[in-house]
Amino acid sequence: MTAPQWARAHTNIALIKYWGKKDAQLMLPANDSLSLTLADFYTDTLVRFTDSIATDQFALDQQPITGQPLAKVTRVLDQVRQLAGITAPAVVTSRNHVPTAAGLASSASGMAALAAAAAQAAGLTLDHPALSRLARLGSGSATRSIDGGFVRWFAGHNDATSYAAPVPAAPPLLADIRVVAVVFSDQPKAIGSTAGMARTAATSSYFPAWTQRAAADLHRLLPALNAGDFVQVGQIAEGNALAMHAATWAADPPFTYFLPATLALVQGIQVWRQSQGVPVYATVDAGPNVKLLTRAPHVAAVQRWLAAHFPTAQVVVTQAGPGISYYPAGKEVDA
Ligand code: DP6
Repeated sequence: MTAPQWARAHTNIALIKYWGKKDAQLMLPANDSLSLTLADFYTDTLVRFTDSIATDQFALDQQPITGQPLAKVTRVLDQVRQLAGITAPAVVTSRNHVPTAAGLASSASGMAALAAAAAQAAGLTLDHPALSRLARLGSGSATRSIDGGFVRWFAGHNDATSYAAPVPAAPPLLADIRVVAVVFSDQPKAIGSTAGMARTAATSSYFPAWTQRAAADLHRLLPALNAGDFVQVGQIAEGNALAMHAATWAADPPFTYFLPATLALVQGIQVWRQSQGVPVYATVDAGPNVKLLTRAPHVAAVQRWLAAHFPTAQVVVTQAGPGISYYPAGKEVDA
């Protein structure tokens, strides 16, 4: 074991969604997915292995966490203990740096920061693919939060082959892509993503079509990123998100994460884009909030349009962010 350091991991937004597992035990997804790591939303985590406690302890923003979230943390820690040949329980301290109610998943940044911090504290030297496999055991989307920029999670067929890696993109695209998060609700959703994707995969008649669609979308997205073709990127991302949500409508029992405002915004953006030619596209995760993809020169127009049409929604703007980093324990990490 080594002197523990804080690990920082940023959350990500999927342009090709991960929705469905082919192996829940190994956390293998049904399809490859691709995301953009975000600059302003991240989690800092410190792990200390110690025999002075009986079981793993986890505190998030100074609140002790138990139950299912702690079980996910222990799953990652168990793998680290096995790799390092240690048995000590761990004290895990996490701080989320997500603007209040930004409506962005913190499990991706949380589990990625945990994987990095735990491996470091246990004295393991793991490369990014190995860290992404570790993060995957905590939460699927966390697999894509070890690296910065655009990141692809290869579904794989076993633990060793299911990992994430950065995807090449034209530098101007990476520099000026913007994500405008539009928040309608900060309430926990009725159906979490784990349960929602499980129900979709098990019962939706559209699920086989969804996985085929995701593969085809990814096939088209990779060259669009490489060419820096934002319009293509946006079109593919919007279509992929709506296809994922279509699969939930065809589940049994059927469900949707959309609120009326979610649909109003997606439709409103489509009409505005078509009439004014503004390059702005919508994507939606397992909740009612919408993330708009645009480029830096159009952010102000998007914000004005949102203020005019959705005056009560909270709006947060961010851009592409980096991969994991480390800070010595004892130093202020908020700087
Ligand atoms: C809609 O990673 O939260 O955000 O692996 O069960 O923990 P588990 O699920 P999670 O699901 C994320 C679903 C999504 C799409 C995505 O991020 O690709």
